[in-house]
Amino acid sequence: MSSLNDIVLKIISSGKGILAADESTGTMTKRLESVKVESSSKNRLTFRHTLFSSEKMRTCIGGVILYDETIKQEFNSKKIPDIISNNGAIPGIKVDTGAKVLSSSPNEKITEGLDGLRERLKEYYNLGARFAKWRGVYTISEKFPSKISIYSNAHALARYSALVQETGMVPIVEPEVLMDGDHSADICLKKTSEVIKKCFEELILHKIDLKGIILKPNMILPGNKSDEKITSEEIADLTLKCLNDSVPKEVPGIAFLSGGQSEVEATKNLNTISKKNKSDFLMTYSYGRALQQSALKNWAKNLSDIEGTQKIFNHRAKMCSLAAQGKWTEKVEKN
Ligand code: 13P
Repeated sequence: MSSLNDIVLKIISSGKGILAADESTGTMTKRLESVKVESSSKNRLTFRHTLFSSEKMRTCIGGVILYDETIKQEFNSKKIPDIISNNGAIPGIKVDTGAKVLSSSPNEKITEGLDGLRERLKEYYNLGARFAKWRGVYTISEKFPSKISIYSNAHALARYSALVQETGMVPIVEPEVLMDGDHSADICLKKTSEVIKKCFEELILHKIDLKGIILKPNMILPGNKSDEKITSEEIADLTLKCLNDSVPKEVPGIAFLSGGQSEVEATKNLNTISKKNKSDFLMTYSYGRALQQSALKNWAKNLSDIEGTQKIFNHRAKMCSLAAQGKWTEKVEKN
């Protein structure tokens, strides 16, 4: 059996990143309906299989995060996790059951899914998953995230991580500080740093092997309703400051979420981060929307245009991979 650190390195080294295709059926339905495609199980599978069988999977994608429905599906009698492994990537699975109202601070959310998790993880391991994902969400306002939300989400992330490592899988630890709001990038830095530090305090308390995790954070950005305009250089500096100050050195890798940035913004910002990264952390992408949006729009126009959709996905994956190596340019983006 590979060590957890070997699995991490297979997923995120050599310019590879993660395709987050783990939208719950509710979220995927919203995405499909936004492009006027019926959200049937067959359509969800066909779109996802189109991505999983694309050429750039081999060179640009080290891991794919799946949803419960997809990991159990087959395409032309082939199991989806086998299709992913045969294309050179490691199958992973989202195991949280979503963010629910946090009763002691009802304007915030707590992520659920710990009950029965040990048994579910065994089932996913047997289906081929070698890593898992759990996402905590935090909103920024004057009062939020509250200490209750910061503590309880960190605690849940640590208990999840312990169970995942016990099963022989790598936990992706995703504390997402949302970009909704009119806050400045400096506030995002302050609040994200507080959130990440608390996560590591709990992970260490729960004896997590830090060499066998991947951190999946947000970049440090001004809120999406803020008037502040900052450059990609400033975003990279703030993001690196946050991570260098808050993440223990044992952690091998950091894979950013795109969190509502456009495809090109998420690529450009990752590229600037990679160029400026002087630490030993491997830094890469774990994008959902920023890898899938254009491909989905193209597919929606003609559901049988598999080749055209793959071409668009291949380009996006290639751009993200170049960005993870600090080799992306505006020129190569347009070619
Ligand atoms: P986005 O890149 O669309 O933010 O999705 C990543 C993800 O996995 C969120 O949990």
